[in-house]
Amino acid sequence: MNQVATKTHVSSKPFLDVLNGRPNGNESDYIPFWFMRQAGRYLPEYRKLRASRNGFLDMAFDPKAASEITLQPIRRFGMDAAILFSDILVIPHALSQALDFVEGEGPKLDPIRDGAALSKLSFSGLESKLSPVYETISNVTAQLDDQTALIGFAGSPWTVATYMVEGSSSRDFINVKKMAYGDPELFSKLIDMLVEATAHYLIKQADSGVEALQLFDSWAGALDADEFKKWVIGPTKKIIDLVRDSHPDIPIIGFPKGAGYNYMSYAEETGVSALGLDSQVPVKWAARSLQPLMPVQGNLDPICLLTGGDTMKIAVEKIMEELSGGPFIFNLGHGIHKDTPLENVEALIKLLRP
Ligand code: CP3
Repeated sequence: MNQVATKTHVSSKPFLDVLNGRPNGNESDYIPFWFMRQAGRYLPEYRKLRASRNGFLDMAFDPKAASEITLQPIRRFGMDAAILFSDILVIPHALSQALDFVEGEGPKLDPIRDGAALSKLSFSGLESKLSPVYETISNVTAQLDDQTALIGFAGSPWTVATYMVEGSSSRDFINVKKMAYGDPELFSKLIDMLVEATAHYLIKQADSGVEALQLFDSWAGALDADEFKKWVIGPTKKIIDLVRDSHPDIPIIGFPKGAGYNYMSYAEETGVSALGLDSQVPVKWAARSLQPLMPVQGNLDPICLLTGGDTMKIAVEKIMEELSGGPFIFNLGHGIHKDTPLENVEALIKLLRP
């Protein structure tokens, strides 16, 4: 497969340079890029591999399959960073909550709605369940070229808890909010468990070779400012402090999707090293108010990529105009949609690497 993008004029890993504040993305015209959910169903090579397997978890916990899937988009498109192929829900699975990915329906878990259900969670299987992920990281690290970085990740406690309490994807988060607002003591027990498991998991990922971490808080936008402080900022800060105790310099990108104005307190109070911007964040505001604090990453609407053509071109130009003057990594504002035509991804990369 041909590599669309070349990185021949830069000396190290441009993605890490931007995160580490080294002059590169901001002082040259080389803007590193990767796409959230770049490994997945829009790729024919992923669909082919998936058809021969027993579902998503079977692939995610098979180091050979997971390494191959991690590398698929890099071989085809030459992104500046690969992201480990796994899922944010491996943590509830490793804490022994039953989890299944039902084709076309998304994740299904045995919902945790009370203390009795919560007390069934256990750390005892954590290490053995997650160890294939660490093996995947070693495999990928051995195969990546010297200009492409490897990103590890986890879900943030709030977002992972929404799935654990609701038992599936949710529109209104009634059950998880009822627990957080009505029985904060019980909900804290769940969040504290997630903080501990997630910090451990991220530290082990860094031990195994990932060079940056991203915390996905996909449902951060469901909370008001006070609850956001309690369930997003607090637990995120705890995780970051724990990770930094053993890996003081590893860059950590926070992605509090939908946080709106709360992006500001998230940037100032959690200790993240960079911010993932969702598509709703106005780029002018981000350039003026967030980018002076730290590097930003984002934020093309994935549906602009799915639409392609001039719609996409205009949106990309606007993002570049506002954000390419400071430390910036180009990305989408959320995961790539499974129906995205490959030609549109190719066209986007041509815009980024003319
Ligand atoms: O390429 C990558 O970005 C790396 C792998 C990755 C996956 N999920 C693979 C996956 C990452 C980083 C995630 C994160 C994730 N998982 C999030 C946070 C980002 C976001 O999208 O908001 C969330 C909320 C999840 C939970 C999850 N996993 C859901 C709701 C679903 C079902 C919906 C869907 O898109 O299918 C999954 C399944 C999942 N995770 C797939 C992939 C490639 C699809 C599995 C398949 O059917 O092949």
